Amino acid sequence: MPLIALCAGDGIGPEVAVEAVKALNAIDKKFKIGFEYVDAPVGGAAYDKFGTPLPEETLAKAKKADAIFLGAVGGPKWEKLDYSVRPERGLLGLRSALDLYANLRPAKMFAPLVDASTLKREIVEGIDMVVVRELTGDLYFGKPRGVEKLPDGTKRGVNTMVYTTPEIERIARVAFEIARKRSRKVCSIDKANVLETTELWREVVQGVRDKEYPDINLSHMYVDNAAMQLVRAPKQFDVMVTGNIFGDILSDEASMLTGSIGMLPSASLNGKKGMYEPIHGSAPDIAGKGIANPIASILSMAMMLEYTFDRSDAARVIENAVAKVLDKGYRTGDIYSPGTTKVGTVEMGDLIVKEL
Ligand code: IPM
Ligand code: MG
Repeated sequence: MPLIALCAGDGIGPEVAVEAVKALNAIDKKFKIGFEYVDAPVGGAAYDKFGTPLPEETLAKAKKADAIFLGAVGGPKWEKLDYSVRPERGLLGLRSALDLYANLRPAKMFAPLVDASTLKREIVEGIDMVVVRELTGDLYFGKPRGVEKLPDGTKRGVNTMVYTTPEIERIARVAFEIARKRSRKVCSIDKANVLETTELWREVVQGVRDKEYPDINLSHMYVDNAAMQLVRAPKQFDVMVTGNIFGDILSDEASMLTGSIGMLPSASLNGKKGMYEPIHGSAPDIAGKGIANPIASILSMAMMLEYTFDRSDAARVIENAVAKVLDKGYRTGDIYSPGTTKVGTVEMGDLIVKEL
């Protein structure tokens, strides 16, 4: 039986997780896959109960499961804690312990939402791109790291940007494979004019292309220019591949082009094994109010069906159901505009399930 670890987490995480499971259960009824679930506490919720954002038991469950669904982690309640036990460490710990090095963040415009974007219609209409972010290296995990006291009483903070050839090669392959299922166009993002690590990045990505993927149209762009091009002419991008820190920043930017960060799912993969999360955070300001948008979570389940369980047929059914509900004019608060019908978290989940 396919096993899914449910890490609901903090803030709106638990609310949107419920809707995601509801949708997956409806799919299960239709396609008879037989999913089983196990709850696995993570983040601030886990810290409050067990004194750590990533309990051993959660890690064991995540390792055993075929796929992990993660709601969101973090919130003001835990912001003062030491770095080592902050909710975010739970998420980073899962990524690293499971070696989930390939983070896929699609930014796709749903036609009915084109006016929800802060950019002009003609700039964003039809956007369909995916950011492939390396997720287990770079400044996030590089050593040395930390803050030390100097003899003169001042302090010195250090993080290390580091990538090895194999790390770059494997993420480049993921990007090229995805590009083969799309328009064979990849743009690799670096800062090779200043940072040696990313000069190596550029060299290795180009090498993999030349040796193994000659059919791919590969270009390179500096990260500052990419940040600018994303708002100037985003439709020039199809697959974008980049390191952990640049990918963190650019994927937020790319997501916002589509109007709402509440719409976008993500997958963090190592082969078939994957962790699936909505890319929005825990949104503590609206937690518990029943108004959060569950669509990113529901679409994360679609990605799970596609990448872990090889059921792109079922994934398409979910995506079509979401599109239909939007077409009919139903909106959560974050994507609401006058003339549409405002609904809450549970109602949005029910509407999508009805279309399944
Ligand atoms: C993301 C988030 C995380 C990251 C945080 C919550 C640690 O911003 O998934 O993009 O920086 O990777
Ligand atoms: Mg981020």
